[in-house]
Amino acid sequence: MELVKLMINGKEVEAPRGSTILQAAELNGIEIPTLCYLKDLSPMGSCRMCVVEVKGNRLLPASCVTPAAPGMEVETESPAVINARRTILELLMANHPHDCLTCDKLGDCKLADYCYKYGVKESPFVGEQHHYAIDDSNPFINRDMNKCIQCGACVRACEEMTGQDNLSYLNRGFHRKVTTCGDVDYMNSDCVFCGQCVAVCPTGALTEKSMAGQARRWEIERVRTTCPFCGTGCNFDLAVKDKKVIGVLSSPDATVNGRSLCVKGRFGWDFIYNEKRLTSPLIKKNGKFEESSWDEAYDLIAKRLNEIKDKYGSESFAALSSARCTNEENYLVSKFTRAYMGNNNVDHCART
Ligand code: SF4
Ligand code: SF4
Ligand code: SF4
Ligand code: FES
Repeated sequence: MELVKLMINGKEVEAPRGSTILQAAELNGIEIPTLCYLKDLSPMGSCRMCVVEVKGNRLLPASCVTPAAPGMEVETESPAVINARRTILELLMANHPHDCLTCDKLGDCKLADYCYKYGVKESPFVGEQHHYAIDDSNPFINRDMNKCIQCGACVRACEEMTGQDNLSYLNRGFHRKVTTCGDVDYMNSDCVFCGQCVAVCPTGALTEKSMAGQARRWEIERVRTTCPFCGTGCNFDLAVKDKKVIGVLSSPDATVNGRSLCVKGRFGWDFIYNEKRLTSPLIKKNGKFEESSWDEAYDLIAKRLNEIKDKYGSESFAALSSARCTNEENYLVSKFTRAYMGNNNVDHCART
């Protein structure tokens, strides 16, 4: 791999040719703030939070879309850069509700984090503000466009990750709005409720309905697990507060699927608290199911399987497993069938 050498903050660094300044900085442990950039989406260069100073360039280029060139001298935290970032935040906050006290995203909101980091308490720019109605028409996603900073991440996620292309930009200038075709609510749009837009939104504009009012983001424990709904086996984090699941959060470092999930994985988790769900084994006694202990159920299963094997032979048994089980569970079914029941009559529902 061909490398380029450049200076960042007075230190010589190397990066693969074709890297942007932002990628070169990240590779070398130098953090540059970003709002519209996500490494799993195409770069857009719209928010300008990632501006840097490059010697010989009187403008402040956006590092997420500027190639790192050999011999370049870059400053990521110079006074001019800090000043520009502060102004960008002040411009964003000029048309943003100061709702951090009750916003569900605080603690995982890049806008609030950067305002804190750069000391932006209020905006000197005074003018008209949007007052959009909140779209909570659907069961999964709260959509508050008053908190949108127009970073375009949701538009790109819907197009590039889901391929649904449900979102785009309406109008120009101050009236520009990220919305659906015809500016209808999600419920009446082509949305398939994968929630990719929610996963990439850096502010409280798009949030998980199930988590509204349930927890501050820093109270949430993330527990990595595998989706139980299909054989793709997507990974995600259960959002847990006080030992109770309140939602699902996807993560770009999930090995199978990255940040992508479908509607079942992201929003179908609430079955775990469904009152109709079986929580203890049922044994049929005198024609009626009765609750039993796990020990009693396991003893009965072992006794009956042994009886069948002794009376009718190994070939009388077959096991049918499921792609909804984990690899480990399917392995156990296979091992039990072959090693204990003594045949190869094992199959699963997703083979055909
Ligand atoms: S939920 Fe999925 S399909 Fe719907 S707008 Fe968001 S990314 Fe697009
Ligand atoms: S809704 Fe969120 S992700 Fe979409 S443009 Fe606005 S701030 Fe960005
Ligand atoms: S998130 Fe959807 S695609 Fe992924 S494993 Fe679950 S059901 Fe399958
Ligand atoms: S992160 Fe580079 S312009 Fe937005």
